[in-house]
Amino acid sequence: MTAGWRIRRLRGVDDAQIQSLADVLIDCVEGGASVSFMHPITHERSVAFWREVARGVASNQRALLVAEDAQGICGTVQLIFQLPENQPHRADLAKMLVHRRARRQGLGAALVRAAEATARECGKTLLVLDAVTDGDAARLYERLGWTRVGDIPGYALMPRGGLCSTTYFYRDLRAPDSGASLAD
Ligand SMILES: CC(C)(COP(=O)(O)OP(=O)(O)OC[C@H]1O[C@@H](n2cnc3c(N)ncnc32)[C@H](O)[C@@H]1OP(=O)(O)O)[C@@H](O)C(=O)NCCC(=O)NCCS
Repeated sequence: MTAGWRIRRLRGVDDAQIQSLADVLIDCVEGGASVSFMHPITHERSVAFWREVARGVASNQRALLVAEDAQGICGTVQLIFQLPENQPHRADLAKMLVHRRARRQGLGAALVRAAEATARECGKTLLVLDAVTDGDAARLYERLGWTRVGDIPGYALMPRGGLCSTTYFYRDLRAPDSGASLAD
């Protein structure tokens, strides 16, 4: 790939990576993304979130992918494996975040494909996620072949207030598609 980033899975998350991931999350919230947090999000709150994620990575309850460019981590996505025991075949895709400096160059799509490939490598056959209805991310998932399940009006607050609808999507990983690998 000739893109200016490289995507890889982190098996452990060090302090420098936590700081970089915290910066990406803050950038997304400041940019108006509805990703669980309200504006303004402090650096401490963002770091605390990523420390919790790091614990999940260490205990294999999550897979964490990061994209790095010349300035450091510019994008990330997670797979959550910690689900009820009757759902060992699936994962939730969560916290797909691309720093504003790296958007609209195909990184979001590359992160989704990399997450799908990672899920397959982990033996998963079904992925589920939710995204703001008709937002940038929802458009991306539809374009990449995810199946739209339906909308829930008034599901969450936008970071500066005001309720938004969320849309659930799933991806059947057994279906033939153009799944990439992390090496692509
Ligand atoms: C949603 C998000 C991850 C998308 O990331 P991205 O890297 O910009 O995604 P892509 O570049 O693959 O696609 C975005 C757009 O750029 C376009 N694009 C991709 N490559 C391009 C290129 N080389 N030149 C011009 N446009 C391009 C895509 O067609 C797409 O267009 P659209 O918005 O009209 O549908 C990003 O906007 C983000 O982090 N948002 C905030 C956090 C968030 O909402 N996360 C989702 C949680 S569910």
